[in-house]
Amino acid sequence: MATVFKLIFAVSMLFTLLVFCRGSIVGVCYGRNADDLPTPDKVAELVQQHNIKYLRIYDSNIQVLKAFANTGVELMVGIPNSDLLALSQFQSNADSWLKNSILPYYPATKITYITVGAEVTESPNNASAQVVPAMHNVLTALKKVGLHRRIKVSSTHSLGVLSRSYPPSAGAFNSSHAFFLKPMLEFLAENQSPFMINIYPYYAYRDSPNNVSLDYALFESSSEVIDPNTGLLYTNMFDAQIDALYFALMALNFRTINVMVTETGWPSKGSPKEKAATPDNAQTYNTNLIRHVINNSGTPAKPGEELDVYIFSLFNENRKPGLESERNWGLFYPDQTSVYNLDFKGRGVVDVPKNSTFTGFNGTTWCIASSNVSQLDLQSALDWACGPGNVDCSAIQPSQPCFEPDTLISHASYAFNSYYQQNGASDVACSFGGAGVKVDKDPSYDNCLYMTTGTNKTAASNTTAMASTSSSSPSQIEVFVWASRFLLMTFLGLLNIA
Ligand SMILES: *[C@@H]1O[C@H](CO)[C@@H](O)[C@H](O)[C@H]1NC(C)=O
Ligand SMILES: *[C@@H]1O[C@H](CO)[C@@H](O)[C@H](O)[C@H]1NC(C)=O
Ligand SMILES: *[C@@H]1O[C@H](CO)[C@@H](O)[C@H](O)[C@H]1NC(C)=O
Ligand SMILES: *[C@@H]1O[C@H](CO)[C@@H](O)[C@H](O)[C@H]1NC(C)=O
Ligand SMILES: *[C@@H]1O[C@H](CO)[C@@H](O)[C@H](O)[C@H]1NC(C)=O
Ligand SMILES: *[C@@H]1O[C@H](CO)[C@@H](O)[C@H](O)[C@H]1NC(C)=O
Ligand SMILES: *[C@@H]1O[C@H](CO)[C@@H](O)[C@H](O)[C@H]1NC(C)=O
Ligand SMILES: *[C@@H]1O[C@H](CO)[C@@H](O)[C@H](O)[C@H]1NC(C)=O
Ligand SMILES: *[C@@H]1O[C@H](CO)[C@@H](O)[C@H](O)[C@H]1NC(C)=O
Repeated sequence: MATVFKLIFAVSMLFTLLVFCRGSIVGVCYGRNADDLPTPDKVAELVQQHNIKYLRIYDSNIQVLKAFANTGVELMVGIPNSDLLALSQFQSNADSWLKNSILPYYPATKITYITVGAEVTESPNNASAQVVPAMHNVLTALKKVGLHRRIKVSSTHSLGVLSRSYPPSAGAFNSSHAFFLKPMLEFLAENQSPFMINIYPYYAYRDSPNNVSLDYALFESSSEVIDPNTGLLYTNMFDAQIDALYFALMALNFRTINVMVTETGWPSKGSPKEKAATPDNAQTYNTNLIRHVINNSGTPAKPGEELDVYIFSLFNENRKPGLESERNWGLFYPDQTSVYNLDFKGRGVVDVPKNSTFTGFNGTTWCIASSNVSQLDLQSALDWACGPGNVDCSAIQPSQPCFEPDTLISHASYAFNSYYQQNGASDVACSFGGAGVKVDKDPSYDNCLYMTTGTNKTAASNTTAMASTSSSSPSQIEVFVWASRFLLMTFLGLLNIA
């Protein structure tokens, strides 16, 4: 009896920790409604260069799935509304879709979600009636091959599923959708799949600029909006809209379903009437969004709750119909240059300085690690420099000249400087997401010689793309591995005692 209890306890602890360790993530939507985009192979390179680790696509295009094989990028793939009828009618259709569209590329291509249908409430055909049966059939197909725990099944929604979103505590689903929403929510709760929602404060502002302040929509507000029913304070519209959804779920007694934001963003350009669609506003919105989310701050109704978001969109898409803004949601132009800079680590925008070469007294500068950043950030930047950054880190290995002092900051300083010197000694090459600092004194000591400017200029042209990419994932993975190991040992220990 006691053994069983301990076993259950250990296992549930393990799950709690695994869930806890992941943290909120920020991904990007890779829409392809355009005729001038780079090939998927090029896109896979671009995505990795910018340290984007999570990508949503709207179909299961073979070229795209192949391009992301062995990249470590996690993909959310989609089933378009036009395919729902077939998938809802026969299990065999879902089985063969999985067999032909997903299994040949999995697990080389990491697929973690399948969105069955998109914004069905906005769909002119009868997609709403087909979506839940299609979800069941896709899940059954996954179960048959044992992948239902690794690949989650859900469906995306527009905020139009709600009939009320203000104040947030009055959030409620539109009862005309109840016929398919009720079974869908039961499906999500049962399978621990998230409720997926697309959130666009931009439209709320554009459509009623007199009622919504731009600052509130851009996460820049200094004033608070108070929900009169709960007393909760809202400083941005994003949180208010998410909480409206949480309250709508709670009203139907679905308290365990997580929310995931499968699209949000801000356009960088619009028609003359769309004055808020500017690169500055787009940069502000997305920068603040990333900071807000990465912080795991949650929302006023669910403080500390993990919330994954996907930014819409990777590219400007020239074939999208509608107002000018519709074709200008991208972070990148089709030629792969940035529309504006965005730091996926949430520490702020990395600007490419116009006049980047700061020179010390005799023209030599070095780059070392800042003592002001967390150990975790330092470690991930060090891992990045010695890994993707291509720095030769042998000098900081045990018994080598720069191993002592055996501290993170000393090792990181050596690696940062080598990267900096190898990459043109520009400001961006010493950025490391804020962990690098330029100095004009040679940090070399004893037999540990730091590289100087000019030692190596072979990679001088390749700094911009990497400046903001000090990666957090190696250390997250390490934490994960460590935690799993620790718990496994605890678990085995408990079995022994019993
Ligand atoms: C939509 O689907 C429902 C349930 O399958 C069916 O009763 C209804 O007739 C369909 N409506 C249309 C317009 O096809
Ligand atoms: C609820 O949905 C129906 C059907 O889509 C729509 O006609 C109606 O306007 C919606 N009600 C509200 C309050 O949004
Ligand atoms: C804006 O607010 C006014 C008064 O507060 C209200 O009458 C109006 O319906 C609102 N407009 C929109 C588009 O929400
Ligand atoms: C991040 O979290 C801290 C503590 O929870 C909070 O004080 C800070 O305002 C948050 N930052 C953002 C940008 O939300
Ligand atoms: C860059 O800085 C150098 C040295 O400070 C200065 O001479 C030069 O004019 C600057 N160039 C630009 C484009 O600002
Ligand atoms: C000038 O730079 C060299 C490396 O190129 C360095 O060894 C020397 O100490 C520097 N001199 C001064 C005065 O900083
Ligand atoms: C640490 O922060 C302080 C105050 O913000 C600053 O003066 C100092 O230069 C920073 N040190 C480093 C090494 O970045
Ligand atoms: C310069 O750096 C590259 C890697 O960026 C390395 O392959 C090459 O050997 C280095 N050359 C010298 C002379 O250090
Ligand atoms: C730039 O960096 C990327 C990614 O690390 C690499 O694949 C590419 O070869 C580099 N290009 C140059 C010119 O060094």
